[in-house]
Amino acid sequence: MTEQGATVSHRALHRYTGLPVDLPDLEAQARANLDPAFYDYIAGGAEDELTLVDNETAWSRLRLLPRVLRDVTHVDISTRVLGARVASPIGIAPMAMQHRASKDGPLDTARGAAATDSLFVMGLFGAGSAAEVAEVPGSAPRWLQVYILKDRERSAAAIARSAEQGYGAVMLTVDVVRQGNRRRDARNRWAFLQSDGGIEDPNEIFDHALTFDDIAWFRERAGIPLVIKGVLRGDDAAACVDAGADGIVVSNHGGRQLDGAIATADALRDVVAAVDGRAEVYVDGGIRHGQHVVKALALGARAVFVGRPVMWGLAVAGAHGVEGVMRGFCDEIERAMALCGVRSVDEIDASLLAADLREPR
Ligand code: FNR
Ligand code: LAC
Repeated sequence: MTEQGATVSHRALHRYTGLPVDLPDLEAQARANLDPAFYDYIAGGAEDELTLVDNETAWSRLRLLPRVLRDVTHVDISTRVLGARVASPIGIAPMAMQHRASKDGPLDTARGAAATDSLFVMGLFGAGSAAEVAEVPGSAPRWLQVYILKDRERSAAAIARSAEQGYGAVMLTVDVVRQGNRRRDARNRWAFLQSDGGIEDPNEIFDHALTFDDIAWFRERAGIPLVIKGVLRGDDAAACVDAGADGIVVSNHGGRQLDGAIATADALRDVVAAVDGRAEVYVDGGIRHGQHVVKALALGARAVFVGRPVMWGLAVAGAHGVEGVMRGFCDEIERAMALCGVRSVDEIDASLLAADLREPR
């Protein structure tokens, strides 16, 4: 993908696979394939869905200052996350209940990620076995996302196992101290975590007492890097790093938790400034185009994550669909970088952003 000639054109790939060319078409096809309540669970956000909508528009609102005359014959979109090489700066966000989108669930997502050398974050509630996902052949890193449950030993055990299973990092999600109030789910009487043993309610099973002091405890048990997901403030990010975090994901959970929370594109700058190079900073929420990824990197993110589009690809064509979505993003990132006059992710810096966006607010 990074070598000249190895790039599969988005359109060509989609002609070949029969997948829709554009994400809105892919979403429409996924919607037609899925149980409406499950589609709503994926698509929905909290309350009035203000943050859900704002996430995407905030990326689109930022303006780039492209460079010209830079010889962009060769554009290398590969990068490193926590030291491991990945084909591009876009990874797959952790998502629950992938078994409802395709039969093999997160195994298919892992296969699609592997086919494109993309970072894949397996979710604790991805509804598949983390051990089996770890067995899917592939050279890109995989991380395991966890929630801390009231049954702390269950969480500690999952964290401890992850290193043995080959996961490169643990991603601890900290923004679900109450389940967001998702109106679509209430209307559909959607039961969130339907497991074999019945329904597990996040409000009941998640530990809501977690503080910064606990981060060090988990970092020690993990024995591998710890990434904290769901941070929107510079002071919180700095406190996470002080407590031992190796990475921070600027995230509002795709607008699914606190409605009215700041869009991640608007929160990123302050977090990058507060972390000040002491940890890697990533961002997710509403990333739908290659140019969004370039903007995130220009604001100081090392990489980004994408959620819902991967679920749509999974629902339409399993592993192939995930592969198609990731190839489409890679293709767009390559084009956006070329059009910005940058040949590698190292050349993406704040000077690509309109002047008022370059300093912390
Ligand atoms: C999520 N997300 C999520 N996050 C997490 O840490 N653990 C989880 O189990 C889930 N589950 C989940 C399910 C579904 C269906 C969605 C859509 C999202 C949030 C996810 O990791 C990510 O933060 C957002 O999805 C990013 O926003 P976009 O790309 O979907 O706009
Ligand atoms: C969600 C939970 C699983 O967003 O994080 O649905």
